[in-house]
Amino acid sequence: MSGALAGRRVVVSAGPTYEDIDPVRFIGNRSSGKMGFALAAAAAARGAEVVLIAGPVHLPAPDGVRRIDVRSAAQMREAVLAALPAEVYIGAAAVADYAPRSVAPGKMKKTGATLVLELVRTPDILAGVAIHPQRPKLVVGFAAETDDVERYARGKLVDKKLDMIAANRVGVPGSGFECDDNALSVYWPGGARELGPAPKTVLAEALLDLVDTRLQVHRSA
Ligand code: PMT
Repeated sequence: MSGALAGRRVVVSAGPTYEDIDPVRFIGNRSSGKMGFALAAAAAARGAEVVLIAGPVHLPAPDGVRRIDVRSAAQMREAVLAALPAEVYIGAAAVADYAPRSVAPGKMKKTGATLVLELVRTPDILAGVAIHPQRPKLVVGFAAETDDVERYARGKLVDKKLDMIAANRVGVPGSGFECDDNALSVYWPGGARELGPAPKTVLAEALLDLVDTRLQVHRSA
């Protein structure tokens, strides 16, 4: 195997997280895991040792990948941090930003016309990896945006101390959640590249080409 990823550990998070409200209900989102699983498969095919931290999805594990299944944001964070040290972390998961303050032990009854749930912020896994003592050489985030894609994505690149961010538009047919295709606007300090529209498997290869190039720049810095 050749390329900057061969023989190196790559940690990928994929899919949604589910935040339980009670034993039968949860807060979730529409991520299918396809984008993250395509990245994990492509990295493994390049000879990387891939650890795939997967939220609740209905996808088979790609060949040659160590898969760890999780449910909540807290479990995903624990599994991602336990997978360090790594050369690269790619956060393709759609992590819930808020979770119920507490999980009701029994099924909640419908007693009123309205129900108020108290939600608390979940820890930001990606930002935590970027300031971790065992920080990977390259920390790559995703950004799911409905508008003003470049401004919000570049804001996250800086705020979360990332090396690269891949932004995709959500809420429009043919890209983002659930579908097989996507289009990515990739940003790094001083650079940008448009990828696609194309199948997520094709975009995964193109994004890993950029990761490969940026990794070589970081190694020689
Ligand atoms: O799974 P698919 O159906 O294939 O869809 C792919 C996708 C749309 C889910 C994927 O391409 C994508 O955009 N993933 C990131 C979705 C997201 O949560 O974006 P965000 O802008 O809210 O978060 C920004 C980044 O912070 C992401 O890398 C996210 O993983 C990370 N994050 C967010 C919150 C949190 N508590 N911890 C995090 O690590």
